[in-house]
Amino acid sequence: MRVLIVGATAAISQASALALLQKEPTARFYLIGRSPEKLAGLQAQLQALRPDAVAGIQSLDLKELGAIPSSLLQAQRALGGPLDLCLIGHGTLIPQATLAQSPEALRQIFTENFISQAVILNNLLPLMRRGGAVGVVSSVAALAARPRSAGYSATKAALSRYIQGLRGSYDAEGVRLIDIRPGWVDTPMTAGSPSKFLSVAPSWAGRDIADALIRRWPRVLYTPWFWRYLMLPLRLIPAVGYERAR
Ligand SMILES: NC(=O)c1ccc[n+]([C@@H]2O[C@H](COP(=O)([O-])OP(=O)(O)OC[C@H]3O[C@@H](n4cnc5c(N)ncnc54)[C@H](OP(=O)(O)O)[C@@H]3O)[C@@H](O)[C@H]2O)c1
Repeated sequence: MRVLIVGATAAISQASALALLQKEPTARFYLIGRSPEKLAGLQAQLQALRPDAVAGIQSLDLKELGAIPSSLLQAQRALGGPLDLCLIGHGTLIPQATLAQSPEALRQIFTENFISQAVILNNLLPLMRRGGAVGVVSSVAALAARPRSAGYSATKAALSRYIQGLRGSYDAEGVRLIDIRPGWVDTPMTAGSPSKFLSVAPSWAGRDIADALIRRWPRVLYTPWFWRYLMLPLRLIPAVGYERAR
């Protein structure tokens, strides 16, 4: 099974890769991410489970949008054929106070949370096997924003809507496109957050993501599962209460 992970150094991506290898012993990975040290660390963990589990790693800052198409091709070549599974897992959380003052920070968060994922999705489909699956890590924040999370939520809303829009083209080629919406997960991204409502370990999200990719279901994954129901009122009622929250 040929598996590409872009944004592989994210804690949630790492947990997903390890869970995938445990569930699918034939999985072989190509890892694209920014930090060479974290890439090497994940490679070593996967190789400890199966010595030939990693076909290659590539360090890439995904803000370099022009480099993305050739990176994806390189991954497919290293894996030796059409991809069975792909996970796109990188992202950034920049405080709203910074975004409010810095157009450059706004440009960065949109590039790292939406535009780079869109460029990947625009180039990925011809590299996938019919019957394969692609998961993209968005967030429950795609569904609602508060003053403190306006910019971050906007990027995730754009990402989830883009995934929804591309689903028809992916379906037509037999490739399942999965919108992954984690709630709070304990990772470096949330280490400084003041509240971590019902937060879980990355291994929980990793197991859910691995299962969804293997089963090609559901099309929208909430992880942990209870976030589907926690977010329901926000999807159904007007935004009166939470817009006042800080
Ligand atoms: N943790 C949560 O509660 C939570 C909830 C909902 C959604 N999410 C989403 O889950 C995803 C993974 O985040 P995480 O929680 O696992 O946190 P994380 O461990 O901090 O992962 C974020 C990753 O994104 C990578 N990244 C950011 N900008 C990049 C760039 N320009 N080029 C390449 N890689 C880049 C970082 O690379 P480096 O390793 O090089 O820094 C880091 O590995 C994100 O999309 C996040 O928005 C997280």
